Amino acid sequence: MKGGRKGRAADKGADGREYGYGAQRTLFGVVSYLAYFVAVAAIATISILSYELILKAHGGVVAAAATAVILVVLSVVLAVIAAGMRKARAEQPVKNILLATEKITRGDFEVYLKPRHAWGRYDEYDIIAENINRMAAELSKTEMLRSDFIANVSHEIKTPLSVIQSYAGALMSEKDEQKRGEYAATLAAASKRLTLLVSDILKLNKLENQKIFPEKKTLEAGEVLRGCVLSYVDKIDEKGINLDCDIEDFTMSADEGFLEIIFNNLLSNAVKFTERGGNIAVSLKKTGGYAQFAVRDDGCGMSAETGAHIFDKFYQGDTSHSQEGNGLGLALVKRVIDICGGEINVNSRVGGGSCFTVRLAVS
Ligand SMILES: Nc1ncnc2c1ncn2[C@@H]1O[C@H](COP(=O)(O)OP(=O)(O)OP(=O)(O)O)[C@@H](O)[C@H]1O
Ligand SMILES: [Mg+2]
Repeated sequence: MKGGRKGRAADKGADGREYGYGAQRTLFGVVSYLAYFVAVAAIATISILSYELILKAHGGVVAAAATAVILVVLSVVLAVIAAGMRKARAEQPVKNILLATEKITRGDFEVYLKPRHAWGRYDEYDIIAENINRMAAELSKTEMLRSDFIANVSHEIKTPLSVIQSYAGALMSEKDEQKRGEYAATLAAASKRLTLLVSDILKLNKLENQKIFPEKKTLEAGEVLRGCVLSYVDKIDEKGINLDCDIEDFTMSADEGFLEIIFNNLLSNAVKFTERGGNIAVSLKKTGGYAQFAVRDDGCGMSAETGAHIFDKFYQGDTSHSQEGNGLGLALVKRVIDICGGEINVNSRVGGGSCFTVRLAVS
């Protein structure tokens, strides 16, 4: 039987199905009630007819007794059938749901409730089962992300901490002034790395929990980008990189801090992953109602496998961590762009350089 509520307030799952109130049949439909009343009417009719027949052949007392027996037997049969149906249609699914929710409460998210009908014939219990399955899967994903996050943070913090520990020890016992200076510089670099890591984690956490909202103001996009490029000039010169800038001047309504996160991280990656004597091209222009920012480099580039993970927290293509960084830059960039409703695209090939393009609405 088709319920009249299909699609109401339903949302679509990753598999494209509609969830929520998307039951196609109701659990206790009119047909069930009709069948029950038809069965009761049939028992009454059979009892009356048998009373009439037995009355003619055996008299009133026998007819009354026989009819009473028939009535009791048929009623018991009907009660057993109704109880069986109730058990199968209501009690068992509720029991399964209780067991599943108890498991989830204990922190065990390995839960799967099999819907009793095929998709397209779902009743309310099937929808509840599907929703519990989705909830368990989401919780398990969150739990995995949380433990991965803790493992990553601990790992990233441990490296500079062990540097600090060993160099602090060496500094205390070293007499040579020049060496002491070198050790102190290493200590300063390790603590700077720790500070950067913690501030990136805090920033990302705030962005993910929607605690930072863009503070939009009208600004000169070209000026903001030039300021960011300037802070990389020393590193660019040091590596002998050839920098080509094509920056258009226009105003846009944006959060300056957000723009700086995007510009700085993409520029820092381009400088970091470009070989000595390589080339970087930076461009900013206004097309239609959008600001289009691009950073192209002819550095090491990346494989499709690396490209698929670059926006993941703590992901670094080079697992030997030979390059500086914590793998948080692009995760921050992506989050900021998502909050602004913008777009980021990457074009890269191993050995063929990379091109990152960002599109943001100007108003
Ligand atoms: N321009 C690029 N060329 C080649 N690989 C890149 C480029 N930009 C990013 N990647 C790859 O993407 C990974 C993730 O980049 P992301 O900016 O998130 O981290 P990171 O630069 O390693 O560290 P952090 O940004 O925290 O200093 C990098 O480790 C690198 O493997
Ligand atoms: Mg980076």
